[in-house]
Amino acid sequence: MERLGVTAASRRPKEITTPVCSVAGLFNVILKMFLLTASHLETKHVKADHRVEVLLGATTILPCEIIGTSDRLSQITWQRTTKQKDGHFLTIRPNNEVKYSNEEDLRFEFIGNFDEKNGTLKFSNVTLKDEGSYTCIFSLLPSGKQSRTSQRVVLVPPNTNLMSYTPIEGNEEVPLATCTAAASKPKAEVKWIKGSLEGKVREELNETQHANGTTTTRSTLIGKPEREMNGQSVKCVVSSETIKEEILETNIQVHYSPGKVNIIEKSKVSYECETEANPIATFTWKR
Ligand SMILES: *[C@@H]1O[C@H](CO)[C@@H](O)[C@H](O)[C@H]1NC(C)=O
Ligand SMILES: *[C@@H]1O[C@H](CO)[C@@H](O)[C@H](O)[C@H]1NC(C)=O
Ligand SMILES: *[C@@H]1O[C@H](CO)[C@@H](O)[C@H](O)[C@H]1NC(C)=O
Repeated sequence: MERLGVTAASRRPKEITTPVCSVAGLFNVILKMFLLTASHLETKHVKADHRVEVLLGATTILPCEIIGTSDRLSQITWQRTTKQKDGHFLTIRPNNEVKYSNEEDLRFEFIGNFDEKNGTLKFSNVTLKDEGSYTCIFSLLPSGKQSRTSQRVVLVPPNTNLMSYTPIEGNEEVPLATCTAAASKPKAEVKWIKGSLEGKVREELNETQHANGTTTTRSTLIGKPEREMNGQSVKCVVSSETIKEEILETNIQVHYSPGKVNIIEKSKVSYECETEANPIATFTWKR
């Protein structure tokens, strides 16, 4: 429990507030120590949901409440630390008066109650840029400041796609099909169910990391295109934290020229010409 408290506290650098009053020497030190102890004790009561995963575009609740104090609350300040933004973004004052610090980001909606010392926010339309930590700070009199921090991790489901190529029958290894799980966070896993192609083809995996923190995973089936492969089904299984499992299916296509041609005598006056090719062969009769 002690360790948990320490870990939580070290993850919350913004939380330990330095007293702003300029009381001299020893008293200041004692006050600091008292506040540190108080904040340390606080962390023990913090619920375990400090790291919360949110789907891109979804809504999340930023909880913020303080229970069991009869201190007077003068204001609640919300602060965030994301890759691009750092600092106060919203303040709640008596009578549930909400003031945005910079731009008015209406995605943050105050749903708590100032009189109940509840500064909870509803945060909608979450984007990748919103990933980070969110802290609410209570300004209490006479005890000083107390804060609550939680992390928001944004998850992005992959865009999946399976495409097959149409190689011509031959002895060279070529790509037969590619399965893509694009721009997901965390990265998706791509696996194949090769069916009758098992043992005849190999997989080539390619991962690309994007600046926005997402990853594209691409797996290609490579093999020598044989006419027997034509029309055979292969499946691609994409799995990630956001989509449990998605199965895509395609038929392998191989183009090949007509092989043996059979002429069948159907009757005295009709003959049938038969061969196999992909795409379908064109027939020309000569006599
Ligand atoms: C959130 O997204 C929806 C759908 O795109 C949009 O209609 C709504 O206005 C957005 N809300 C805010 C507060 O930006
Ligand atoms: C604070 O407000 C939120 C949102 O209205 C609510 O769900 C929560 O129960 C409140 N907390 C307390 C302690 O009343
Ligand atoms: C992340 O970046 C990739 C590559 O530029 C892009 O395709 C994708 O749409 C981006 N995702 C989000 C959620 O912005």
